[in-house]
Amino acid sequence: SNGPFTTEICRYGTAAIARAAAVIADGGTIAIPTETVYGLAADSTDGAAVARIYAAKGRPAFNPLIVHVLDVAAAARLARIDAVSKRLIDAFWPGPLTLVLPLAPDSPVASIVTAGLPTVAIRCPAHRAMRDLLAACGRPLAAPSANPSGGISATRAAHVMAGLGGRIPLIVDDGATAMGLESTIAAAAPDHIRLLRPGPITAEQLSEAAGGLPVIAADGGSIEAPGQLSSHYAPGTPLAIDVAAPAADAFVIGFGAAGGDINLSPSGDLVEAAAGLFDALHRADASGRPQIAVRPVPQQGLGAAINDRLRRAAHRD
Ligand code: TXA
Ligand code: MG
Repeated sequence: SNGPFTTEICRYGTAAIARAAAVIADGGTIAIPTETVYGLAADSTDGAAVARIYAAKGRPAFNPLIVHVLDVAAAARLARIDAVSKRLIDAFWPGPLTLVLPLAPDSPVASIVTAGLPTVAIRCPAHRAMRDLLAACGRPLAAPSANPSGGISATRAAHVMAGLGGRIPLIVDDGATAMGLESTIAAAAPDHIRLLRPGPITAEQLSEAAGGLPVIAADGGSIEAPGQLSSHYAPGTPLAIDVAAPAADAFVIGFGAAGGDINLSPSGDLVEAAAGLFDALHRADASGRPQIAVRPVPQQGLGAAINDRLRRAAHRD
């Protein structure tokens, strides 16, 4: 099961889930949607299977992966769940919140998943396809976003095919993902919460669910989120953000009244903008123009996560 593969796209349904589960039981990896972005899933308890994720993505091995579970009981078999994390779980699972937790002493998660860290990132997805797959496999699944390392996250089966075609046997297609941004990643302490990656669940929502605990934003280069390489989301075309006056040859990604070749949300709706962000970046990158210019996006609410992804996309070494 090491490829190269003829990559098949199968529409979501009983047959697609059964085929995906069979590939995973055989130690392989397949792409499947979650409510955030498409994931590249494999058995998190099988180190060789997880290595095939890294191989398909071409991902640096120091970058730990998120483990997906059906419920809190499954999470408790992998990691220790403190009181603050439990409150966040009660408020937001299933949903787009990943928690970094200390590994349980007898955790079955393969060490390649955590890249040797004493902690594991766990999330409980809400999407029917990923939930059906978790139920069919009966084990926790490691799944990073289904794009080549350093590429833009995939929010449609066609994005996965463009990035990983030939490197995996199967893509389960259940349409465009609802949120279009990867999950929020947080790590709880007794008296505060560290926000390791902004996402659909905002800092304000985390604080409120935890009885008003302060939420501290960890900066992108922090050791606590080693996968947050600043160039992680970079498209091939140079990209500038917060552009008020774009150059004539730029592909312009607009927001609100400031239009462009694509408008993330003509009405200025940040949820709509987040859902279409990676699709817009894929289209801009494929346009053939020499540069991409993104209009200003407000920083409130989901705008914090959108601007975080845009800053990474703009970063160049
Ligand atoms: O929405 C999502 O979270 C998607 C879908 C597929 O579930 N997954 C996703 O996975 O975005 P990935 O691998 O692209 O991002 C994983 C992030 C990385 O930034 C990684 O460094 C961080 O999670 N991470 C994983 N384990 C960690 C740990 N033990 N401590 C801190 N950060 C961790
Ligand atoms: Mg990713």
